[in-house]
Amino acid sequence: MKPNYKNWMPKGMICGTAAGCAVCLGLFLVFGVSGLLTAGIWKTVLTILFLVLTLFLLAVTVWMILLYKSFSYNGKRQLSRRIIDGVAARVVLPEGGSGLDVGCGSGALTIAVAKHNPNAQMTGIDRWGVEYSSFSKTLCEENAKAEGVSNTSFAKGDAVRLNFANETFDAVCSNYVYHNIPSRNRQEILMETLRVLKKGGTFAIHDIFSNLKYGDMQKYVQRLKDMGYADVKLVPTDNGLFMSRCEATWLGLKGSAILMGKK
Ligand SMILES: C[S@@+](CC[C@H](N)C(=O)[O-])C[C@H]1O[C@@H](n2cnc3c(N)ncnc32)[C@H](O)[C@@H]1O
Repeated sequence: MKPNYKNWMPKGMICGTAAGCAVCLGLFLVFGVSGLLTAGIWKTVLTILFLVLTLFLLAVTVWMILLYKSFSYNGKRQLSRRIIDGVAARVVLPEGGSGLDVGCGSGALTIAVAKHNPNAQMTGIDRWGVEYSSFSKTLCEENAKAEGVSNTSFAKGDAVRLNFANETFDAVCSNYVYHNIPSRNRQEILMETLRVLKKGGTFAIHDIFSNLKYGDMQKYVQRLKDMGYADVKLVPTDNGLFMSRCEATWLGLKGSAILMGKK
């Protein structure tokens, strides 16, 4: 059995947008071409409206298909695999230690970290079933089995309020999760993740740390340093490390970076 990590661009979202495009095209043909409406202001308005909507949704559908191809684990680019491996390589667990992956999706990062740290235990949590309906706890468990990894466990959980006591884990990690969470204050969601990290434990959190999504991250780095965290840095990954600047821009991943350090 081979693992199936699915795709960060859900197929359902592509199909839904393509269906919307087809409906708008149909309405454009009905109102603009079929002669159902007699010439006049309404015919002109509806024809232009549905033509613009059709073209817009067509462009979005094509963009989503290109994203799907870039992220695919079976495609040429394999960007997801590259990012997962890059983040996993930065998560080091002590012998017998434990780590947490927040928003584990299909289990890719949890499993990659578990493989790198065979004598430690990795836990993956996710809220599953909202926008990424193809990701599930069962899928994570099947992927771990397919990879021959037994030092993982998966549970339902919310990144905003983690169901773990303070200072539970030796390392915490995450990949492209927090920017998905509708919140005015994502810096506080990061704090929630760091709450469950042991003193002396390490963190590697990869996300789109743009000013728009997170506010001033340089101030946040300084805040962690002031709290006694060591080696805190924000390592850009959209400058060639994981992807080029141009690629990050068209993929909508500009601002990608790893927030790393030690508590
Ligand atoms: C782009 S996917 C990334 C999945 C995985 N980290 C990876 O790299 O393959 C985003 C994931 O974040 C999860 N997620 C979003 N909001 C969450 C929340 N509040 N708590 C836990 N998981 C969340 C989604 O369910 C989804 O699985």
